[in-house]
Amino acid sequence: MKLAHKTAILTGAASGIGIAVARRYLQEGASCLLVDLKLNDELQALQQEHPQRVALLQADVTRREDIAAIVSSAVERFGSIDILYNNAAIFDMHPLLDESWDSFDRLFAVNVKGMFFLLQAVARQMVEQGRGGKIINLSSQAGRRGEALVAHYCATKAAVISYTQSAALALAPHGINVNGIAPGVVDTPMWKDVDALFARYEGRQPGDKKRLVGEAVPLGRMGLPEDLTGAALFLASADSDYITAQTLNVDGGNWMS
Ligand code: NAI
Repeated sequence: MKLAHKTAILTGAASGIGIAVARRYLQEGASCLLVDLKLNDELQALQQEHPQRVALLQADVTRREDIAAIVSSAVERFGSIDILYNNAAIFDMHPLLDESWDSFDRLFAVNVKGMFFLLQAVARQMVEQGRGGKIINLSSQAGRRGEALVAHYCATKAAVISYTQSAALALAPHGINVNGIAPGVVDTPMWKDVDALFARYEGRQPGDKKRLVGEAVPLGRMGLPEDLTGAALFLASADSDYITAQTLNVDGGNWMS
């Protein structure tokens, strides 16, 4: 029970990696505020399974009032916040010469602005509580290097790595650890969009890109959401107390070739 008596906020908790991490945190004893745009059946089922330790909140991390509501809901329900698993994001891609301002604004609003300002709001609460905390930001291998068709998404994920370092330095005096996770390719609902977009822009058959990226991973397959939960638990637990400002690759050894 590595997270007994801890309270966590998880965003993007209805799907993919987010719900897998929510299940792992709950197994380890945490109480969790699970946040997403829609409260789907899987979230409702988790709430029924753990009525004392799960609260659900429908919220959009791009909205300032929703950021405030996320923090106040966690505090009202559980009394404090120990862990932020900052995960909500969207994907989009276009040939660079066709990139639109609208796509840029949407990607940066969710993946960057939402993530940064939720971190800030939660960090203010953690500083007030005075007993440290753990913040985990979801970046990507897409933040480590560019991709011709994915310029804006890659830039959002590079921004997350940079902000993770800055926030870690700013919050270290308060005993708050800020780290990131950079997954490679993980088989989640996000990949429906990724695969369809690569099919459109690279002239592939649907499903081809997923197969190719899986084959390119040195460990021989795409990741599953559960493959990310060990790192998410480690960075939320006391096992990582002396680690901050890092972004940990969890990618099977590589990413797309
Ligand atoms: P997903 O698409 O399965 O889940 C993302 C969740 O975020 C969805 O439930 C969605 O409703 C929610 N969300 C989107 N916009 C939101 C908003 N404005 N407010 C609140 N919630 C919002 O994605 P997946 O694959 O589980 O990704 C999780 C994280 O991992 C993301 O940050 C993603 O960029 C990152 N990642 C994923 C990879 C992959 O191959 N699946 C690879 C590298 C990084």
